[in-house]
Amino acid sequence: MAGRGWRIEDAPRLDGRRAVVTGASGGLGFETALGLARRGAAVVLAARDPGRAEAARRRIAGAVPGADVGFARLDLADLASVAAFAAGVVASGPLDVLVCNAGVMAFPTRRTTRDGFEEQFGTNYLGHFALAARLMPALTGAGGAARVVSVASLAHVQGRIDLDDLQGATRYDPWTAYRQSKLAMLIFARELQRRADAADWPLRAVAAHPGWAVTDIISNGPGQGRGGLKPAMMNLAFRLLGQSAADGALPILYAATAPEAEPGGYYGPTGRGERTGPVGPSRVMPQARDAGVARALWDASERLTGVRFETEVGA
Ligand SMILES: NC(=O)c1ccc[n+]([C@@H]2O[C@H](COP(=O)([O-])OP(=O)(O)OC[C@H]3O[C@@H](n4cnc5c(N)ncnc54)[C@H](OP(=O)(O)O)[C@@H]3O)[C@@H](O)[C@H]2O)c1
Repeated sequence: MAGRGWRIEDAPRLDGRRAVVTGASGGLGFETALGLARRGAAVVLAARDPGRAEAARRRIAGAVPGADVGFARLDLADLASVAAFAAGVVASGPLDVLVCNAGVMAFPTRRTTRDGFEEQFGTNYLGHFALAARLMPALTGAGGAARVVSVASLAHVQGRIDLDDLQGATRYDPWTAYRQSKLAMLIFARELQRRADAADWPLRAVAAHPGWAVTDIISNGPGQGRGGLKPAMMNLAFRLLGQSAADGALPILYAATAPEAEPGGYYGPTGRGERTGPVGPSRVMPQARDAGVARALWDASERLTGVRFETEVGA
């Protein structure tokens, strides 16, 4: 790989391994699922829209002859759906890789999940927190250090965890909520690794971000409703200064597969502004290193979701 940066071909073979990718119906999740299938993993596309998921499944099956790729319904904005999805995965055996990728960005007006959480915090972070916790029996039964990958963002750089108003209930700002949800994902990866080390869970938690990748995230979020100039400018900037979804997925795939990806590490593009370029370590801002905030966020997440990290079903 000297001189050209890490590619999916550099990942070890994953035959006999099972992976779940959330938000695999499009964008980075699709490219991540495709990459894992290329290396031989059995991949479960976790998605909320069966039609889009089936289209993604067909595209992967068409691109990777003999791919073992299936779909299971998961709506991260609904804790009952998270529980049902996880029960199905746990019942069907060990899990080697969980990629917590699905996400929504900067809805112009405050929206809530089925459980009443602000939708970005609820979908991007709390849904994944509950999912990873419920999948612990499958992850720790994988017979090796299963990977839990958290997809964060450059947006974490300006993020802040507002422990007094995690849900943006008193004051909602679309970007503040998005930044907080992505910072929470980075904190989650680091705190999960800390807890895994302390409790001897056979887990490797790694975070990654795609830089600026051309996907539907802008039109699905800030571009909703009246849209306007800002989303159009953002789309243009991403196209001019960003990279393809396939390249954006490489740091995620690296975090999911590379033997050299450090437990608790954070990876992304290393080119200008970390927007594009070869995969490497990313900068972690001080607010993502605050152990007190990490503990408080974890406690709040357990309280809000009603789920704890245990290695056995019903423990
Ligand atoms: N693109 C970038 O430059 C960029 C930069 C930094 C971080 N990220 C992060 O990368 C991740 C993927 O984003 P993307 O750029 O690929 O965006 P995208 O094209 O909009 O894809 C988002 C995916 O998340 C799924 N999703 C949304 N809400 C869901 C829910 N409630 N339950 C289950 N799945 C849900 C979507 O499913 P549907 O098909 O049903 O809509 C879709 O598959 C996000 O976490 C985002 O924050 C992206």
